[in-house]
Amino acid sequence: MRKVLLCLFLVIFPISTVFSAERILLDQSGGGSSENSKRSDFSEIKPEAILDENRTLVQHQAIITEIQGILNDPKISDFNWLDLACGKGQIILHVDMNLSEEMRKKVNFWGYDLCKEFLDVADEKSKNTGFKSRHFLLGDLAKLDDVLPASRTFDFITLTNTVHEISPRDLPIVLFDSILRLSENGSLFIYDMENLPSPELGSVPWRNYEIKEILKEFFTTMGSTDYCPFPGQWLHKTCTAWNVQIKKGYFPKEAREMVKIKGKIIERTQNKILELLKRRLTVCNRELEKTRDHGIETEKEYNEVQALLFEFWALNNAIKKF
Ligand SMILES: C[S@@+](CC[C@H](N)C(=O)[O-])C[C@H]1O[C@@H](n2cnc3c(N)ncnc32)[C@H](O)[C@@H]1O
Repeated sequence: MRKVLLCLFLVIFPISTVFSAERILLDQSGGGSSENSKRSDFSEIKPEAILDENRTLVQHQAIITEIQGILNDPKISDFNWLDLACGKGQIILHVDMNLSEEMRKKVNFWGYDLCKEFLDVADEKSKNTGFKSRHFLLGDLAKLDDVLPASRTFDFITLTNTVHEISPRDLPIVLFDSILRLSENGSLFIYDMENLPSPELGSVPWRNYEIKEILKEFFTTMGSTDYCPFPGQWLHKTCTAWNVQIKKGYFPKEAREMVKIKGKIIERTQNKILELLKRRLTVCNRELEKTRDHGIETEKEYNEVQALLFEFWALNNAIKKF
């Protein structure tokens, strides 16, 4: 069995899948579309996205419920929603059942993803939503500035099921650039799994207590001592998950001037992330060494070691990027 594991380790360790996509901007509001053919390497993790017409994920339900509450306000006539890493548009599949026609007519929807094929599917699915306008942007989350000017702000920004796919070094950049694009009372809703139902090569799923430390570093450096959003934890059948809601309206004055200290916020948060990755790698090494000494006897142990090897590879890869 040890030989099998060693082979598995040697097979997965040198693999590096570099996904390359063409950047393209599809603007559906006026029926026009424009293209930018510049090529760029986006992610090292193979992009995946589900599209299940018969299912509403709880995290999507939570988001639509929140939007429902906001759009009930008769004073609101325009609602700008940016769905980061929108995938194939799973989140908008059931809006017709949960937002009235009048509510949907207020929504300007922006989907952003690095995979053109997924955006095409999301675009197709969004045609029946009755949204006021629909826009689909191709790009890397860590390079929002290339595609979306900071002056374009949103009332609601969502990022679901994706943080584990973001290179940990880029995480503070994605966080910063998303917050920067929130309107005065806008909010950012993030949700992700703490452990994946089946491991994905190169993914780094975070635990809610780690997200808490990352946010603390980010917000303290930003000058926000009172406001630091609390990440929740959710127990599901096949995994556990975390979520956080960041509301621009709660930021103290100093924190609103965040652009002036962008470099400092990102650098300090990256240092914190590196510290957490190294801490995890120490634990991972220790567990693998224990297995080496005791051997693997059951299927459960085998699965645990497999998960540890995936973690080992992902952590080493992530640390190398700092
Ligand atoms: C698991 S899917 C989640 C899709 C959708 N948000 C949902 O909740 O159903 C992850 C998505 O993130 C996208 N993605 C991963 N890394 C990205 C990056 N660096 N920039 C932009 N999109 C990214 C993938 O292409 C994929 O569509």
